[in-house]
Amino acid sequence: MLCKYHSKCIKLISIILFITIYFMYEFLRPIQLPGRGTPREINNIVLQSPLSGVTDRCFRKLIRKWAPEALLFTEMVNATSLGLGYGIQKIEELAEEDGPIGVQLYDFRPKAMVKAAKKAESEGAFLIDINMGCPVKKIANKGGGSALIKDKDLAAEIVNEVSQAVKIPVTIKTRLGWTKETSAPEDFAIEMQKAGAQLITIHGRTRDQGFKGKSNWQAIASIKKVLEIPLIANGDINNPNDAIKCLNTTKADGIMIGRGSLGKPWLIGYINSVMKGNTSFQYPSQKETVQIAIDHLKELIKIKGDHGLLIARKHLSWTCQNIKNSKELRSSLMREKTPLEAIKILERKLESME
Ligand SMILES: Cc1cc2nc3c(=O)[nH]c(=O)nc-3n(C[C@H](O)[C@H](O)[C@H](O)COP(=O)(O)O)c2cc1C
Repeated sequence: MLCKYHSKCIKLISIILFITIYFMYEFLRPIQLPGRGTPREINNIVLQSPLSGVTDRCFRKLIRKWAPEALLFTEMVNATSLGLGYGIQKIEELAEEDGPIGVQLYDFRPKAMVKAAKKAESEGAFLIDINMGCPVKKIANKGGGSALIKDKDLAAEIVNEVSQAVKIPVTIKTRLGWTKETSAPEDFAIEMQKAGAQLITIHGRTRDQGFKGKSNWQAIASIKKVLEIPLIANGDINNPNDAIKCLNTTKADGIMIGRGSLGKPWLIGYINSVMKGNTSFQYPSQKETVQIAIDHLKELIKIKGDHGLLIARKHLSWTCQNIKNSKELRSSLMREKTPLEAIKILERKLESME
């Protein structure tokens, strides 16, 4: 006979095992996308959001240190501009990178989207993602980004034409609607699925919310219920706890992290390893965080020259936010005009921490 204490222990262990197995098998299944001749498998259910002005090749290179297999995205690229030669390096540099990278395109012109998607495919894109969520007026007023939510027929035409033109999978990233009152996100998602989208990412806010309020994971759950294709939940997932809660609520096939990774290129790898039950993840120390800032700055200068310092400023500010007593450090970095001096400021900080 087991004593009361032992049977309680066994019960607890069984619950932990059950939860572990549940996560392993329900949440950690790779996501299969058939494509149209080039199937893709997403092995890591924690994805990095496309972030304009942030997820360039230097930031992606940093993320890779902790998340070698994660699906990352380019910043959104305008298809028409690409056809004119602008932003082409954002696509051509894919060839030099390891790991899966989706190219995110935006436009309201189906033909331009087709041309851009073919170019991205030929340069090694893992998949093509169509932006249907960008709230920026300059883009939405012309009919691109989130404005496509209001024009279901045009959105479907773009998805259909792009899907027919490439062999890799075509996916979309969108929001819950234009406004709460006018939104019918389940209908929209079903139409995109019919048009050929093989995966849908939902940011749980409407366009008019911008980034205000909370991401509505319940609403994402309702969309998941009506779809046959995989769904990725996005919005306000900033740590492993959020990730588990979001997956539990939405029953999504994966999650996408955006702002949480600003200044924390390790976050995708960290959340993913916790999801896989790996408790040995080495969260960067304060000193290692300064070293990450130095590496990031050096890489940006290598790729962009002196202009790299301007791009680095926001990253340095985000990364150093996590350093104790960083106010002075951050303000001197923001004022510094020469890249080498900026590196020295960080190196001095590092030495002072020895
Ligand atoms: C600085 C910034 C840039 C963004 N750029 C893009 C983009 O290029 N494409 C896109 O689909 N979403 C973009 N987004 C939206 C994010 O990908 C994401 O959907 C949103 O921030 C919600 O997720 P989060 O709460 O994890 O940040 C951007 C958001 C921010 C804050």
